[in-house]
Parts: sequence; structure tokens; C-alpha cells
Amino acid sequence: MHKQLIACFILISSGSFATKGLAAGDIVLSTSNIHIRTLAASCAACHGSNGNAVQSNISNNSVLAGMNKSYFIAQLMAFKNGDRPATVMHRHAKGLQVEEINQLADYFSAQKPIPAISLKPQLLDVNHD
Ligand code: HEC
Repeated sequence: MHKQLIACFILISSGSFATKGLAAGDIVLSTSNIHIRTLAASCAACHGSNGNAVQSNISNNSVLAGMNKSYFIAQLMAFKNGDRPATVMHRHAKGLQVEEINQLADYFSAQKPIPAISLKPQLLDVNHD
């Protein structure tokens, strides 16, 4: 009876190990993805969700969505080493590793730029009743 229970336990646990083994690969992949997505989310405050910055009179931050990869990398490297003067980006870039910059370039270049919503000017009728 006792032996049967142990055997049963071993079977179940080895079974779950096998599944865990398979899932482990997935987790490693998605963890690096989550890391890059988290980093990318930290850019959203100024560059918009998924790099789609809202262009307005107040904020005119660059749209990162669909940005050319090598241009993106060149700019962040220039911010990082001080070649491109910046108000804030040198601080962000200095905190990033080259590998993270490369992966952020992959991430943002793959995002679809969403054309800004343009509001149609409306004529106001001064004599409206
Ligand atoms: C606090 C606001 C802010 C945040 C957060 C921010 N940026 Fe920026 N970004 C700017 C500003 C402002 C500029 C223009 C350069 C400058 O003055 O720093 C810029 C410029 C850039 C440029 C150059 C764009 C061009 O057209 O040449 C890239 C690329 C960029 N940012 C990427 C990022 C990434 C990637 C992150 C997140 C890791 C990020 N930014 C986070 C404000 C921000």
C-alpha cells in the first residue's frame, strides 16, 4: 500500500517535471521579452504606448513605433556616450546595456505607427439658435 503510494507520487511528480521542463524554455524566452517590454513601458510616459507618442503643441516627442533600427541604436548610443546633447535621454541611455538597446530597437521597429487622430476644425455658427 505504502509502496504503491510512493510509486504513484513518483509518477505524478516525474510527469509534472517533464511538463515543467518543457515550460522552462518558454519561460526563459518570455522573461527576456517581459524585461524588454517593461523597459519599453518606461519610455511610454514621453514616447507614448508602444512608441506612439501623441503629437501636440505641448509635447512633440519622437514616435518610436516603426523607427528604423539602426537609427534608433545610433541615437541611443550617442545619448549614452554624450555625442548627442540631450535634456533627458542621456540619463535613460546611460542606464541601458548595449544588448538592451539592441532589443529595444527590435521591439520599437516592430511596432505599428498609429497615425495621430486629427480633429477636424469645426465652423461655429455665431447665429445659432
Ligand atoms: C522623460 C521623458 C522621456 C522618457 C521617459 C524617454 N524619452 Fe526618449 N526622448 C525624450 C526627449 C525629450 C528626447 C529628445 C532628446 C532630449 O532632449 O533628451 C528623446 C529622444 C529619443 C530618441 C531620439 C529620437 C529622434 O527622433 O532622434 C530616441 C530613439 C528615444 N528618445 C528613445 C527612448 C527610449 C528607448 C526610452 C525608454 C528607455 C525613452 N526614450 C524614454 C524624452 C523621453
